[in-house]
Order: sequence, then structure tokens, then C-alpha cells
Amino acid sequence: MINNNPIGLFDSGIGGTSIWSAIHRLLPNESTIYLADSKNAPYGQKSKEEIVALSCKNVELLLEQNCKLIVVACNTATTNAIKELREKYNIPFIGIEPAIKPAALHSKTHTIGILATKGTLNSALFNKSLAQYQNIKFVEQVGYGLVQLIENGDIDSPEMNDLLQTYLQPMIAANIDYLVLGCSHYPYLIPQIKKILPPGIQIIDSGEAVARQTQYILQQNVGFNTASALFHTFYTNSNPKVLKEILNGSYDVIEKDF
Ligand code: DGL
Repeated sequence: MINNNPIGLFDSGIGGTSIWSAIHRLLPNESTIYLADSKNAPYGQKSKEEIVALSCKNVELLLEQNCKLIVVACNTATTNAIKELREKYNIPFIGIEPAIKPAALHSKTHTIGILATKGTLNSALFNKSLAQYQNIKFVEQVGYGLVQLIENGDIDSPEMNDLLQTYLQPMIAANIDYLVLGCSHYPYLIPQIKKILPPGIQIIDSGEAVARQTQYILQQNVGFNTASALFHTFYTNSNPKVLKEILNGSYDVIEKDF
């Protein structure tokens, strides 16, 4: 099946580019449009109603650009709004949720750490997933302040290290052997997190699983791009410098009010 329209992605800011990278690695022949709603970050502290309204605004912009499928590259928006988005818009959505399944299947200590936003940890969808693993102890931690620091470009800062120490030490003490990164911003913290965690603890994020699911849905329902002219457009409504930096200056970033 052929469909030359772009894949659309959105996040509360620059974090979803971790998902974009995984999709681009697996599907290098697909055009993409990415929306960084950095002006409204963090979503993690907002109410469900606010997250649904912001998600609808982002989706409408991507639909105006003829996207063929939309990746909600944000755990907080997925766990709070994907049901509403699927009901309202006639386009396939791929969501991202904390990867607790692979961690639960492989954990030997039966103790798993989850670092995510308050919005994700409190959501009904996430708690429904957790309830499937009665034999596992989950050590949940809200990553207060982490998204703001990442959005400000302060990834490798003493402040970041202090916050990570505070959030991860209790998980280490609880004997976790898997740490699930339940926010698409957090993969950018993996080098800092690795300095804190003992070597036996595995870190899991959802990027590759989302990319595989995107490939599957394109194959089943939507169609792949065959046009030779590819494009990757990145829109932000605040702080283009940080988005450019996270993309290593390889792509143009367009500042737009949305
Ligand atoms: N990157 C988002 C997530 O995956 C949201 C972070 C936020 O805006 O609080 O949850």
C-alpha cells in the first residue's frame, strides 16, 4: 500500500524527539512533521481536561498538514487523552506508555522502578496496566522538575544530578533490577542515570516498541511512502535553540505560534 503523506508526531516539548529518532531509524523513507508544544510544557502537572484540549489542538495542526498517522510521542498525553483522540478524529493514533511489560517479564528481583510524570502515574490507563502484574513490586517516582530542566537545555547540570540522585537512590535501596523511563523526555538523561545506577540495573524506554508499532500500522492500514522527496519538519512554539541542539543542528526548526 502506498501513502506519501507524512507521519505526524507531537509532544509537550522536545522529549518526543527520542521517539522521532527511533521511528526515523526504523522507517528512514518516511517524511515526518514534529510539533514541540514547549510553550505548554510540562503537561505532567496539568489536569486531564487540559491535556485533552492541548492534544486536540496539536492533532488539528497535524491534520491540516495532511498527516497519515499521528504518534502521540508523550506518555502523559497518551495515558490521559488517547481514548478521546481516537473517538474524535478519524485517523490512526499510536500512543506511548511506560514499557512495564518487558520489565515485568524479565525482572528477577520482581521489583521495578518507574520514573514518569504525575499525570502518567495517576492516569487510569497506566494503573490498569499495572494491575496486570500482581507479582511485581513497582517503585513509582514522579520526576518533578526533570522536564523543565531538559526544556531549558540543562541536561548535564548539577541540579539535574541532584534531582536524579533523590529519585533513584530509594529505587536502588528497594532492589530494583529494571528502571522504566515513562516519559519521552527521559531517554536524554540515560548517560546521567547510568552514572548513578549500579551496573546490573537495566534501563528501558518505549522508543523502539513505538517505532515497530508504527511500522506495523503503516503496513496493515495506512501505506508506506514511495516518493523520493522526503522531508522532516520540526515546529516549536517556544525556545527553538534547544530543539535545534537536541537535533544536533541537522534539521531546520520552524518557530510557529500554536
Ligand atoms: N514528554 C512527556 C511524557 O512523555 C511529557 C512531559 C511533560 O510535559 O510533563 O510524559
